[in-house]
Amino acid sequence: MFSHPDIRNMQIQTKLPKVGTTIFSVMSQSALEHKAVNLGQGFPDFEPPEALRDAVARAMAEGRNQYAPGIGLPTLREQIALKTERLYGHKVSADSEVTVTSGGTEALFSAIAAVVRAGEEVIVFDPAYDSYEPAIELQGSRAVHIPLQAPTFAVDWQRVRDAITPKTRMILINSPHNPTGAVLSSADLEELAAIVRDTEIVVLSDEVYEHIVYDGAQHESVLRHPELAARSIVVSSFGKTYHCTGWKVGYAVAPKALSAEFRKVHQYLTFCTFHPAQVAFAEFLASSPEHYLELPAFYQAKRDYFRSLIKPSRFKLLDVPGGYFQLVDYSAISNKDDVSFCEWMVKEGGVAAIPLTPFYEQAPGTHLLRLCFAKSDATMEAAAERLCKL
Ligand SMILES: Cc1ncc(COP(=O)(O)O)c(C=O)c1O
Repeated sequence: MFSHPDIRNMQIQTKLPKVGTTIFSVMSQSALEHKAVNLGQGFPDFEPPEALRDAVARAMAEGRNQYAPGIGLPTLREQIALKTERLYGHKVSADSEVTVTSGGTEALFSAIAAVVRAGEEVIVFDPAYDSYEPAIELQGSRAVHIPLQAPTFAVDWQRVRDAITPKTRMILINSPHNPTGAVLSSADLEELAAIVRDTEIVVLSDEVYEHIVYDGAQHESVLRHPELAARSIVVSSFGKTYHCTGWKVGYAVAPKALSAEFRKVHQYLTFCTFHPAQVAFAEFLASSPEHYLELPAFYQAKRDYFRSLIKPSRFKLLDVPGGYFQLVDYSAISNKDDVSFCEWMVKEGGVAAIPLTPFYEQAPGTHLLRLCFAKSDATMEAAAERLCKL
């Protein structure tokens, strides 16, 4: 008699051998266990605007609870198109160039899956946000890692030129950058444009921290650069802008032909995004543009307060041009590697942070860790008191 193989004894061949539980979940769990102040995972510990929360509740009460249109509510896409034109001077079609997604993460995955084929290469910059490489590997393609130059974490464009091969299909940039806070300048975008000119390379621009830039700087979106905008998919996240990372709503802006391919993947990955939040964002973008216009000042006050609190500590503070993370060098405290230091600090020091090594293909050997300052004053003060004792 034919016997079926027992699934319990089957060897599952992993498609993602390098992937374990992300460092963000590991550190958050550890923070809970050790009752540490959690400056690890990047999420605000304060609430989204009340009017926005009310609008979600109202949308639910009014029965906006079934599938939304797959590409996003027309009213929300129109608001996104208006904002894109107002901020970056780039006119986009709400119908064919804006797609609402279930967070920036889904947009990144859909973009990579839509564009990159097996055997092709994607250039990423280390330290790199951890969702990039698994999305690339699942396409049977390869991430080519180029390290950013510490301590400013600038891009070495000559290294990018040298890394281009006939297989290069995509360059993935992220500005403001997680975890370093580095921002790309208009000169960087010129370099990038010169490199991809006369190629079929697509730029994937992760701009989820677009509204968090400091000291009067302007965010250099690739959408400000017509030549780049014509070959780019730009990813944004309402989670970062409206303090609601748990709602997972984001969007992608791309020219019509790229958006069409992007939407084919999005359609079968999630089909559509949480409907009540889309109703609320459409209303709130129209009624309260000051929210994102004032975000740089809001976070700059937090950055400056946090820096003043930990200045007396033995940590050395790196500059923070954008984003809501502070990198610190702990060399004066310990010569442990960064993962071991973070494990020690969450247990013994009572503060959870994120080490940089998991963001690299090759451990950088630096003594840097990332602290999130998207926190209330009380949380920052409690953390700083502990950090100053180390
Ligand atoms: C650089 C970067 N890209 C993308 C994301 C994902 O955004 P979302 O939470 O909207 O999926 C994050 C979130 O931390 C991020 O830091």
